[in-house]
Amino acid sequence: MDDTVAALLDRLKTRRNRWNGHTLRAEFAADPDRFDRFSVAFDDILFDYSKTHVDAETLALLVELAEAADLIGWRERKLSGDAINTTERRAVLHTALRDRSRRAIHLGDQDVAADVASVLAHMEDFTDAVRSGGIRGATGEAFTDVVNIGIGGSDLGPRMAARALSPYRDGGPRVHYVANVDGADLADTLATLDPARTLFLIASKTFTTLETMTNAASARAWIAGQLGEAAVPDHFAALSTALDKVAAFGVRADRTFGFWDWVGGRYSTWSAIGLSLALSIGFRNFSAFLDGAADMDEHFQTAPLDRNIPVLMGMIGAWYRDAWDYRTLAVLPYDQRLEHFPAFLQQLDMESNGKRVTRDGVPVSVPTGPIVFGEPGTNGQHAFYQLLHQGTDVVPCEFLVACQPHETLEGDHHAKLVANCLAQAEALMRGRTEEEARAQMLASGMSATEADRLAPHRTFPGDRPSTMLMYRKLDPRTLGRLVALYEHKVFVQGVIWNINSFDQYGVELGKELASVLLGAVAGGEPLTASDGSTAGLVARYRAMRGE
Ligand code: F6P
Repeated sequence: MDDTVAALLDRLKTRRNRWNGHTLRAEFAADPDRFDRFSVAFDDILFDYSKTHVDAETLALLVELAEAADLIGWRERKLSGDAINTTERRAVLHTALRDRSRRAIHLGDQDVAADVASVLAHMEDFTDAVRSGGIRGATGEAFTDVVNIGIGGSDLGPRMAARALSPYRDGGPRVHYVANVDGADLADTLATLDPARTLFLIASKTFTTLETMTNAASARAWIAGQLGEAAVPDHFAALSTALDKVAAFGVRADRTFGFWDWVGGRYSTWSAIGLSLALSIGFRNFSAFLDGAADMDEHFQTAPLDRNIPVLMGMIGAWYRDAWDYRTLAVLPYDQRLEHFPAFLQQLDMESNGKRVTRDGVPVSVPTGPIVFGEPGTNGQHAFYQLLHQGTDVVPCEFLVACQPHETLEGDHHAKLVANCLAQAEALMRGRTEEEARAQMLASGMSATEADRLAPHRTFPGDRPSTMLMYRKLDPRTLGRLVALYEHKVFVQGVIWNINSFDQYGVELGKELASVLLGAVAGGEPLTASDGSTAGLVARYRAMRGE
């Protein structure tokens, strides 16, 4: 780590001491303008970070740290197509997938903007034709169901977004997502489908992933078995960078949607991998989703660092990770249709920044990416929030909430949802002292002995940090903004930690060992060079199956 960066991190660690014996609650009491000073609005999105331990001096130090880590330089290198994914020697250009200005970028012979425009035009034609019934299955039936077969980045983004934007389906096909190699995933999905009306999308950047290829082969066999081999080409499309492998599988060229090695899997929803989303919500809405991301790219690119939402989110997160040693991060959308958002962010954040060596291959000197988890509110409140409020670990929380619902139900669902969201953030920050707990119990008529007995259990330490993203409504444009915001946040943190956020070698060892074990597990081949535990488990597995 650069000496200046290390020195700034040390100063930020020292800055933490300011809060010894001092609380956010006291800070709010002393400063009526704290919300105004520590919140930023970008069009329909408000980012409130006043319930974090950031003050003016810390903010200045965080900005200094971002500058010392050359965030501005890395941002420029990324946008201009430098191979900042240094291990894989690749550019990182997912922003070009949503760049409506079609800024000229050339990678060798490739005209990136022209290639993106051409695939988008193909996606638009295909989407319109499937939705209108112009493209039909082999028996002449219109498609009512689309099954995206993919995993990781070829699943989580479109799955999350299709669920989030389900109010925009407007007569489009139902979309289903099959990821797991566990046959239960595919079998349970097929059980609900009519083959004559089902279109499969095989989504795989590499077109080699074990889960996806296994599920694709089974889906192919299902269509061939139900409708005949000749029907297969009419019921499959593919989304991939490996066009030769797609052709070998038997997908027609006009049903093949390409993308490029400079689109990382977890950043690929904006590419052909988003086709299931486009089919679900229509191309006009898909375009609005891209436009939203472009809005956030522009904000990230141009807003001053201390008013730049992804920079602020990234820097505050890095500060809590490195100076406060908080190891986890809870993402808490008070928006049921964002139910897959935490899982999507787990891949985005943990696959990107779960790294232990720097870009130069030496061990990092500070902790890197947090463990991300989450669940929509209010459901999570009745599950794991107990630990958030009274556990021994402090978990920084990121709340998300919409001001307007899509529903027009009777009753006050949305007001109750929002009240709960705001109350949880307030409770985490404010806490409740033992004296307050005791006084409340006495006021309710409880005896002093009982109040004394229960007071420690009913005390909340408070001073637990959270941020809030409040947006108008979860529409395609806003979702695009939110997803791009998190992409940039993760990038910012990778720059601070000087790690390569764009490779994922950590997923490989397990895959390799699985392929070695498969012979022994499936075929009864002898097991060599395994540890005693693995060998014992394989033996037990075989015995339980009577082999
Ligand atoms: O498991 C790692 C990973 O390589 C992810 O990064 C990727 O999104 C996923 O597998 C799926 O890969 P593919 O799109 O090549 O099937």
